[in-house]
Amino acid sequence: MSDPLHRIKSIEDLNISGRRVFIRTDLNCPLTAEGGIADDSRILAALPTIRYAREQGAKVILCSHLGRPKGRVRKELSLEPVGRRLAELLDTDIAFPEDSVGDGPRKLALDLREGQVMLLQNVRFCAGETKNDDQLARQLASLTNVYVNDAFGSAHRAHASVSGITRHVADRGAGFLLIREVKALSALLSAPQRPFVVSIGGGKVAGKIGVIENLLNIADTILIGGAMAYTFLAALGVHVGSSRVEEDKLALAKRVLTKADAQKVQLILPSDHVCAREADELAPTSIHSNGEVPDGLLGLDIGPQTLNEYLDHIREAKTVFWNGPMGVFELEVFARGTNALAQAVAQSNAMSIVGGGDSISAIRRTGLTPFISHISTGGGASLEFLEGKELPGIEALRPHRRHDV
Ligand code: 3PG
Repeated sequence: MSDPLHRIKSIEDLNISGRRVFIRTDLNCPLTAEGGIADDSRILAALPTIRYAREQGAKVILCSHLGRPKGRVRKELSLEPVGRRLAELLDTDIAFPEDSVGDGPRKLALDLREGQVMLLQNVRFCAGETKNDDQLARQLASLTNVYVNDAFGSAHRAHASVSGITRHVADRGAGFLLIREVKALSALLSAPQRPFVVSIGGGKVAGKIGVIENLLNIADTILIGGAMAYTFLAALGVHVGSSRVEEDKLALAKRVLTKADAQKVQLILPSDHVCAREADELAPTSIHSNGEVPDGLLGLDIGPQTLNEYLDHIREAKTVFWNGPMGVFELEVFARGTNALAQAVAQSNAMSIVGGGDSISAIRRTGLTPFISHISTGGGASLEFLEGKELPGIEALRPHRRHDV
């Protein structure tokens, strides 16, 4: 695989001292019901680039989205709580205009002094953001002299603050987080130590099929769990009771199974299941170990036999990539597979990479996060990267033909 960072400058290659630097971060944190920050990992991950920019005497303008407000101002998706947490962590005041563009942010940006920080309001309050609107891109660009993208989690989005803005800022590069993520994920694709074991779970085949197909060219073993396993099992003609099957993806699942066979990659599906009539904490559960799910029941977690098999693979692996839970892990009765897998990934000596919000929170519950080699801040972005796709946010950082050197 060619170097995905080819011709992309690092923030360290840019002259930022005394200049206004627009840093696109991904501060899209889960919120509590009361509007607080439920998990500040993305804020913590953004700190090294922000700290470096301040140390270099840059005037720092931070931009992020939060949630999916669809171009409307939604008070509950204001970045204000994020700004407060960031101010605590940086131990400094942060200017926080009410908008992302317009007179308010412009004046604050012009008044910034070296080392000072401002955080723009949620850029997705602007309708043009997700449309990659050029007028918005120009307005954002007009705030700054230098552009840095450190929002790996948004790198798969061709949005105005991720992609369009780079048409109007010649001086641009990548932040430390984006570089770290790209290096860790590229190592999986180019030179994984073997055995390379991939564990993919979660609700839907649709979002994961591309990554499974690409990893079939690279991995030695792929372990499938979560509701998506039932679409694969149904594609093989296994009886799956009332488990969720994506009928429109059966042909695709079959194609992947055939490809795995042809490439001699072990693609392993659950052979036993923890079942119940519904996904309810209080529903009576039963374990079915002949591979099938009886009529009227749903498969809601991998069974003990499957779990042992998956754990053996994880223990023997030299490289592990994990994305997606093995069952309905939000409910304790169906969380055993996911929790045990999290523990095994964290305890393995393999180079381990974990992506996706659910897997990350399962790892966090084990308290073993520091033992994971790399926790990706990008769910969708890490999957698209491993699918072998070019990410617009990364591509936009390379020199453009029109006005760049
Ligand atoms: C994420 O949470 O994966 C990123 O912040 C991107 O968010 P999005 O899926 O709403 O674009």
